[in-house]
Amino acid sequence: MENLFALDVLSRIAHVATAIVLVGGTVFMRFVLMPAAKELPEAEHDQLRQRLLARWKRVVHGGIALLLLSGLFNYMQQIPKHKGDGLYHALLGTKMLLALVVFFIASALVGRSAAFEKMRQSRANWMGVIVLLSALIVGISGFVKVRVPKPKLAVPTEPRQVEKLPAATSS
Ligand code: HEM
Repeated sequence: MENLFALDVLSRIAHVATAIVLVGGTVFMRFVLMPAAKELPEAEHDQLRQRLLARWKRVVHGGIALLLLSGLFNYMQQIPKHKGDGLYHALLGTKMLLALVVFFIASALVGRSAAFEKMRQSRANWMGVIVLLSALIVGISGFVKVRVPKPKLAVPTEPRQVEKLPAATSS
């Protein structure tokens, strides 16, 4: 039990820390590094982009794996605590779908597949999309964490049957 508690804490720390690195790194690149690098001569800019992408790719792939592993573990831990709480599961389902979209865009941007070359040509826009979706994901995650679900009222089912007592016989 205590071991599971430690794993629970560790998994949460890994999840949040990875999200900070990936989302923070994307915000830094999109709004600080890319505008600054644009001012470099073309050849230097290209070199910088290639070196950066080779390193960032490893962070993205490792980060996606960690977020999926820790996220699924966190979810398994939360399921018993949120039995019958439809809104919790709907919000987390939405978050997971959004996360898959973010993972797809991030992988396409660091990959080499010719199919996604068009996306890579408008890298700045797609990174903006990643930042927006990530803000939504962090918002949902924070909301489900602090929201207090409404207590369920006991719903009466069938009206109670009143058993008739056998008529008293007078003797
Ligand atoms: C871009 C990807 C993701 C980001 C930025 C992200 C971010 C976060 C953050 C910041 C929290 C902490 C919320 C808090 O404690 O206040 C959290 C919690 C959580 N995340 Fe993620 N996450 C991502 C992907 C995923 C995925 C893929 C899964 C599931 C497969 C997942 C499942 C969870 C669960 C179950 C919690 C705990 C919710 C609760 O407290 O009830 N996350 N996430």
